[in-house]
Amino acid sequence: MNSGKKLRVAILASGRGSNLQALLDAAVEPDYPAEIGGVFCDKSDAQALERAKKAGVPAVWVDPAGENYEDRLAAEIEAVGCGLICCAGYMKILSPAFVARFPDKIINIHPSLLPSFPGFHGQRQALRAGVRVAGCTVHFIDEGVDTGPIILQAAVPILPEDTEETLSARILWFEHRIYPLTVRLIAEGLVHREGTRVRLSGVDINHEGGFISPPVKIL
Ligand code: GRF
Repeated sequence: MNSGKKLRVAILASGRGSNLQALLDAAVEPDYPAEIGGVFCDKSDAQALERAKKAGVPAVWVDPAGENYEDRLAAEIEAVGCGLICCAGYMKILSPAFVARFPDKIINIHPSLLPSFPGFHGQRQALRAGVRVAGCTVHFIDEGVDTGPIILQAAVPILPEDTEETLSARILWFEHRIYPLTVRLIAEGLVHREGTRVRLSGVDINHEGGFISPPVKIL
């Protein structure tokens, strides 16, 4: 249901849909300034479709086979009248034509501290590189792969015993928090794209913090 005031959001997903779930859960809160207008999947068996149906949100499978897939996808999104498109585990790369059709209206969440480790398996790439800090990034989508202006990031330590699974779980916990937070900030008009950078306005920024990784004790 469109309240008329809330930002209407379309979500693109291909699989598990845990980030979609975080957004659906946030949108249930009466004071959340966005609502989920529809979930669009390129995989007919995506768990994301089930999550959408359970939440009473339109769940649309758009068959990627055949002609004009992205045109059909864009038409479906436009039909529900969404002002923001969130990629949440959407495994296809959007074409420049699709991105141009929704200027500054498409965002993505990626499981690394971009611009490090774009593409597949960001967590695995971080472990292999031996970095001590990993994390996740919400960014605008541009014509590149995971290259668009960064909106929010969360950082986590990489611990000596970490596997791809344990690190992914640690990062995912923050994904589920910074994605709904980003959508809230956008809905409230506090996110301003300025070229390759993003300025946040009206946000109370805590200047304390920072950590050593791994979290060794300083004697
Ligand atoms: C997440 O790690 C997200 O950062 C990446 O793909 C994964 C999707 O997970 N883009 P889910 O489908 O949201 O559970």
